[in-house]
Amino acid sequence: MTSRTEEGSEEKWYHRASLYQIWIRSFADGNGDGIGDLYGVYGKLDYIASLGVDAIWFSPIYPSPNADYGYDISDYRNIHPDYGDLDQFDRVLHRAHELGLKIIMDLVINHTSDEHPWFLESKKGEENPYRDYYIWRKKPNNWNSFFGGSAWEYEGTRDQYYLHLFARKQPDLNMDNPRVREEIKGIIRFWLDRGVDGFRMDVINFISKREGLPDGIPWIPAVNGVMHFKDGPHLREYLSEFRAVCREYGDIVQIGEGPLTSARTARSYIAGEHPVMDMMISFDHMMADCLFTEYLPKPFSLVSMKKAMTRWQMTMADGGWNSLYLENHDHPRIISRYGSESHWKESGKALAVSYLFQKGTPFVYQGQEIGMTNIRFRSIREYLDIASIENFERFFTGQPMHKRLNRIHHSSRDSARTPMQWDGSEYAGFSRTEPWFSVNPNYHAINVAIEEQDPDSILQFYRLCLALRKKSRTLLWGEYREYYPRDDRIFTYTRSLGKNHYLILCSLSRLPSFARIPEEYRGRTARLVLSDQEPLSRFAHLDPAHYEREKLPGVILFRPYEARVYQVRFG
Ligand code: NOJ
Repeated sequence: MTSRTEEGSEEKWYHRASLYQIWIRSFADGNGDGIGDLYGVYGKLDYIASLGVDAIWFSPIYPSPNADYGYDISDYRNIHPDYGDLDQFDRVLHRAHELGLKIIMDLVINHTSDEHPWFLESKKGEENPYRDYYIWRKKPNNWNSFFGGSAWEYEGTRDQYYLHLFARKQPDLNMDNPRVREEIKGIIRFWLDRGVDGFRMDVINFISKREGLPDGIPWIPAVNGVMHFKDGPHLREYLSEFRAVCREYGDIVQIGEGPLTSARTARSYIAGEHPVMDMMISFDHMMADCLFTEYLPKPFSLVSMKKAMTRWQMTMADGGWNSLYLENHDHPRIISRYGSESHWKESGKALAVSYLFQKGTPFVYQGQEIGMTNIRFRSIREYLDIASIENFERFFTGQPMHKRLNRIHHSSRDSARTPMQWDGSEYAGFSRTEPWFSVNPNYHAINVAIEEQDPDSILQFYRLCLALRKKSRTLLWGEYREYYPRDDRIFTYTRSLGKNHYLILCSLSRLPSFARIPEEYRGRTARLVLSDQEPLSRFAHLDPAHYEREKLPGVILFRPYEARVYQVRFG
């Protein structure tokens, strides 16, 4: 169903939607083998629906040797046996649809696994029909892989090197080969025929490499070749081909992951007469405390986080659309990172307010809604994520071990990948047997069961935020504006549509701070529709008419991580 938006463009289901991301291996184990699976997901669909989200994005659930936990696919048309089978997938899809939840699959087409039959054939030799499915060279260029070392691996059977922008076990597909693109279209159809509702497209802005694969800048680590493969010469053309297939099936959402892409470039894919995607996943706001990867940290700057968020908001304001997120499987947990574990509840809620009311489609990552935090291991051997291990081995190697481990603790993707904490029973209710990966020992205090009982929990707060957002056209379509961008403690932004305004104030400081009220709001009558420091029962109506009016002063003294949302009617 589509209708007209305030801007005159068509309103699609994903404009109004919020997404819940599942990283299946750690979500819920239904068959008792210690590994999350689709049986477990099936049992949790009611819970997911109860959050008020509208769709599930599955990180890859296909067969994979798991060199990069699913992002190295060996069969695009099946389900990893650890997670179930196609029949179970269909059951999940069907039940999800009954509950009003759409299903979005991860489409990883920049690379496959080196165990994918295409690659096994391709490496056999230059006579093989699959010889040009990958990028082979007699002489490698100087590009580095994102996971460290050269982006090229020698293959004896061909006496050639193949390109892998990520792990050695993730050879890059040659998208310039029309046969490869036909294969991709076949995969898209396969899943759309099954009834899925969209795709999140992994590192999609890397799929078209510059002809000749010129050398990159030698002295830049890791990303030295990026200007030759990011937003490449044929990207738009290839994406339109994939888009055309999706369009045959209706309003299929296409969400592109776009590392290192600017907001302007992202907009060019989304807005205009011939969009090739519906929204992009930006990384800019996730670099407010690091250089390129969380493993190269710098002090957290709220100012630079706000700047990145506002840049994307403003760039997409007219005809574009944003995806909104703070957590996913590629980053450590936000309370440990941008908030404070000692102000666990408040900072968890304030962080929710900081992004959920911006303009776009919000994403919530499993465990974020209960405030899960980073895991701390004592030895590097306990970490499993390839990026963490590679970073550990390549940077800061001269430092004492405790410092190096501390860096991993602050940066590892593994913190997002520990089993979901469902209750206080053994293994956090994730599994009946010992899970494949360590449960965070704080599961006794942080889990779904406790937060279901606590009327003021982070979980209930997420539900309220999502419900409030969904009810309001202003929060859906209203104009975004940021105030006091240089304030390094408080994030102040508004959403406005006609006379209806929302004023969102949120402190990301562990100190009491003065929140300034923007001039045009001072002295106006407002209604507090959400606060992270008051009983949530006060806001349960979701109807501003039930709330007391108050006159907005010039400044308000905020407690640490205090967050408020006011509704203000002008005129
Ligand atoms: C982005 C994915 O989100 C990440 O988990 C993966 O390692 C890389 N792409 C490579 O597929």
